[in-house]
Amino acid sequence: MSPQQETWTAVDRYFADLLIPHDDVLDEVLRSSAAANLPAIAVSPAQGKLLHLLARVQGARRILEIGTLAGYSTIWLARALPPDGTLITLEADPKHAQIARANVERAGLSRIVDLRLGRALETLPMLEAQCRQTPLDLIFIDADKPALGDYFEWSLKLSRPGTVIITDNVVRDGKVIDASNPDASVKGVRRFNEMLAKDKRVSATAIQTVGSKGYDGFAIALVIASS
Ligand code: SAH
Ligand code: DHB
Ligand code: MG
Repeated sequence: MSPQQETWTAVDRYFADLLIPHDDVLDEVLRSSAAANLPAIAVSPAQGKLLHLLARVQGARRILEIGTLAGYSTIWLARALPPDGTLITLEADPKHAQIARANVERAGLSRIVDLRLGRALETLPMLEAQCRQTPLDLIFIDADKPALGDYFEWSLKLSRPGTVIITDNVVRDGKVIDASNPDASVKGVRRFNEMLAKDKRVSATAIQTVGSKGYDGFAIALVIASS
């Protein structure tokens, strides 16, 4: 680990110790995820709490998450909802979905969390009719990066003016500014960022972050006009 990364990790731990109460359920999510050899790419505790606080600031009642993994961010977000709230989370990998379901159950959130197994581009269209009645209040995009632009288009379809769209991993160690990077994820992030910039239906910003997950960032968009 570079000296820089050691500091970022130590500072993340410092703030987590101060601000994030010990939580057996969330610890077990990470333990079960590692035990099943899932990648260690869940949001950090501080980022999880940021998502939770943003959902509360938003007064969210309906949340969509694209990319569940073991349910770590899912649980942070679902805990921001009222008892009659709903969080729909989309996951393509059956093994991830199975572990996430067990974790959501252990968190006592099975009535709030609706996990849909399948590739997001196949499950998103099923949300359209439902969300026309009751649009989403907050969307967290955190699945495969090449498809970010498509997920953004879908997010707009499922939104109302006032919906918040948060996208993870838009910096990727700074690779995002390299227009010649051939990596499909970098290309996907750049396409997404350009769509954000051009689309008159949203007002957006992006924030670089360092911490236990290295150097990355979030984009945050507020929907300001209907599709
Ligand atoms: N949000 C999680 C981390 C998600 S990691 C957390 O912070 O805790 C990304 C997840 O997206 C992985 O579980 C991966 O299987 C899933 N994924 C990848 N491609 C997908 C697709 N096309 N549709 C749905 N999920 C996908
Ligand atoms: C990766 C994916 C993520 O969503 C993330 O937050 C970090 C890393 C990855 O696929 O490498
Ligand atoms: Mg991510």
